[in-house]
Amino acid sequence: MKLAVIGTGYVGLVTGACFANLGNEVICVDRDRQRITGLNRGQIPFYEPGLQEIVHRNTQAGRLTFSTDLTGSVKRSEILFIAVGTPSTPNGKADVSAVIAVAKGIAKAMKPKTFKVIVNKSTVPVGMGDIVTKILLEDGVKKDSFAVVSNPEFLREGSAVSDFMSPDRIVIGASDNRAFNKISELYRSLNAHMIFTSIKSAELIKYASNAFLATKISFINEIASICERVGSDVEEVANAVGLDHRIGREFLNAGIGWGGSCFPKDILALMHLAREHGYDPQILDAIHEVNNYQVDAFVGKIEKQLKNLRGKKITVLGLAFKPETDDLRDAPSLKIIDRLISKGARITAYDPVAEKTAKKIEKQLTFCNKVYEAIDGAEAVVVATEWGEFRDLDLEKVKKLMKKPVIFDGRNIYNPKRMKELGFSYFGVGR
Ligand code: UDX
Repeated sequence: MKLAVIGTGYVGLVTGACFANLGNEVICVDRDRQRITGLNRGQIPFYEPGLQEIVHRNTQAGRLTFSTDLTGSVKRSEILFIAVGTPSTPNGKADVSAVIAVAKGIAKAMKPKTFKVIVNKSTVPVGMGDIVTKILLEDGVKKDSFAVVSNPEFLREGSAVSDFMSPDRIVIGASDNRAFNKISELYRSLNAHMIFTSIKSAELIKYASNAFLATKISFINEIASICERVGSDVEEVANAVGLDHRIGREFLNAGIGWGGSCFPKDILALMHLAREHGYDPQILDAIHEVNNYQVDAFVGKIEKQLKNLRGKKITVLGLAFKPETDDLRDAPSLKIIDRLISKGARITAYDPVAEKTAKKIEKQLTFCNKVYEAIDGAEAVVVATEWGEFRDLDLEKVKKLMKKPVIFDGRNIYNPKRMKELGFSYFGVGR
């Protein structure tokens, strides 16, 4: 099929490249000329495992192209994916101006008599499908020449390509049978569980899924705080609790809280949506508060142990909001670093891939591109991202390099007993 994917961020680029990989003819569109020029030269604008390879393979096969020409791309495509950002506004509401701008651009380019499906992949407040429909109709596009679909993405950064290829489910929200058929045909080769819903349900499924996952994390973080006070180990608790198949072990890793490009903004947007419709979302408020508390409590722990932070070298291992990405959006590491800097600490940071992104936003940091160099002379090490290479560090060497062997493990990657045996003062979360 001929597709246009508008927006070449994580979602758009992964979606476009993967659909091309399934044999479709895909044009990825973005108004950012520099990004399109780079993509045409084979430069992927962010780190995502496996993406570069499928972009190159499909570009070479001629199935994947990049353009800034929205009108031309709409004209030659039968399915149009809107995959642009919906960042938070200061009051938490999702900013849908980019979705509206794209919908207007699509409306201008639509030809009469050709049926096109317009698919919303961007995470949008419930009701956006109706707004997109209204924009097209108001621009004179004939009612029977298009259908709007909500097809939310559930891609995790760091494993987005494999998530796309083996999804737990594909949600198709529509009110038009032609659209249902076309989109289910598009996904057919993935052999995945397809759920057909109304547009409004599909829009809420995305928010509800992210909110539930964030709830699981905040829940275990709250249990971790209780563990610390009563002397239990949250890892042992989570391992046993998670074996109940009704609960499940995933997303029960306690730590410094959830961050990233989705959870923080989507939770805020859902809270705002609820309030706009007259409901006070008590659980969402609480998970948000617990998430903020995780950073406060962690910094508090560091202060309690190190006393005065002024002039002390603290090494932060990991900056990305999670491993296998260079994304720093709402990364807990940055909040911790800001607090430590404000208390006078000298921060040295190491991240296997996020250094380049971090250099753009953090100014008062010293970066090291070698992990042991970063640790050399530190009065404390803070683990902020659970990159695999941190689990495999030579801890004897780490101890020798540090001025004082103190580790604050914000992701619980080390075994407290072993750390004690090695002679570290070790502080995890909830253990
Ligand atoms: C998330 C959803 O998982 C995905 O389905 C959606 O489409 C986009 O948002 P992503 O933001 O890439 O994906 O990361 P995810 O793996 O979900 O982690 C989110 C945050 O939660 C990270 O900061 C991570 O460190 C944290 N987390 C995750 C925990 O603190 N504990 C856990 O047990 C799991």
